[in-house]
Amino acid sequence: MRVIILGSAAGGGVPQWNCACPNCIDARHDNRGRTQSSVAVSADGERWILLNASPDLRTQLAAHHELWPRGRRGSGIAAVILTDGEIDHTLGLLLMRESASKLPVYAPAGVTALLDGAWPLYRVLSAYSGVEPRVLDEARPMPLTDHAGAALGLCCSAAPVARRPPRYARGVSQATFDVGLRLEDERTGGTLAYVPTAGAIDDRVRRVASGADLLLFDGTFWSDDELRAVVGGDAPTAREMGHLPVGAPGGSLELLPRLDAKRTVLVHINNTNPMLCPGSAERTQVEASGVLVGEDAMEFEL
Ligand code: MLT
Ligand code: MN
Ligand code: ZN
Repeated sequence: MRVIILGSAAGGGVPQWNCACPNCIDARHDNRGRTQSSVAVSADGERWILLNASPDLRTQLAAHHELWPRGRRGSGIAAVILTDGEIDHTLGLLLMRESASKLPVYAPAGVTALLDGAWPLYRVLSAYSGVEPRVLDEARPMPLTDHAGAALGLCCSAAPVARRPPRYARGVSQATFDVGLRLEDERTGGTLAYVPTAGAIDDRVRRVASGADLLLFDGTFWSDDELRAVVGGDAPTAREMGHLPVGAPGGSLELLPRLDAKRTVLVHINNTNPMLCPGSAERTQVEASGVLVGEDAMEFEL
């Protein structure tokens, strides 16, 4: 399985349009930003599955020749899997509306309902190429297929993670709004665990992530009150937003090494996170734990 981190930043990206925190200032000056959260995976190097569809999808697809069009018109993007219904993970679906066929979109049941309801992307897209919604089965691994039903060589298990509904759906009744994924290459046996948003490392995360060849995990915030320090008094804490802070006591840096993944890389990193700054004490602490800070365009073969 080939894995490409298309975008390593959380919602807003780095720099974020209205932010002048130290990381956003640095990114503007050295012209080295980060795009919003998405990963591409492929068993055969030809047909690709997007894990989340970023608002920066257009630049991300242009940046990787593997994802360039096939023939005069056509794409190697065979399917999309959404791990949540947040704007930073779904807006990119609108950018694929020129597709020649309905795009298969795997998502948890709660997210599939949101995208036909409170955030009606599926309804809007039905006037264009349309999507084929597929609900992720939380009970058993699913072999992934393209729009014609052809096997893509990857099997996907999904498990609900501790979170809260998206802000636009606070009133919606309880459902699964966030999952972690475990993808297995049916030929090589290589395993990717993808958990870009999680408020806790609980038994469900442990089942998805334990012993994976590669674990991509929620690196949104370093500390619980990080956003408040930049935005001001009433900003939510990391835990209120459903993100386990990386560096706090009881945070992910203490817990991730116990999952025994062969490699662990932090993704979905907010622009306020001090570990983004090379040479910072926080970056040194991450690397001393054997964990990597994800970068756009990092690649792995599993
Ligand atoms: C999240 O991951 O918590 C959301 O994407 C935050 C947002 O609304 O940007
Ligand atoms: Mn997000
Ligand atoms: Zn910023």
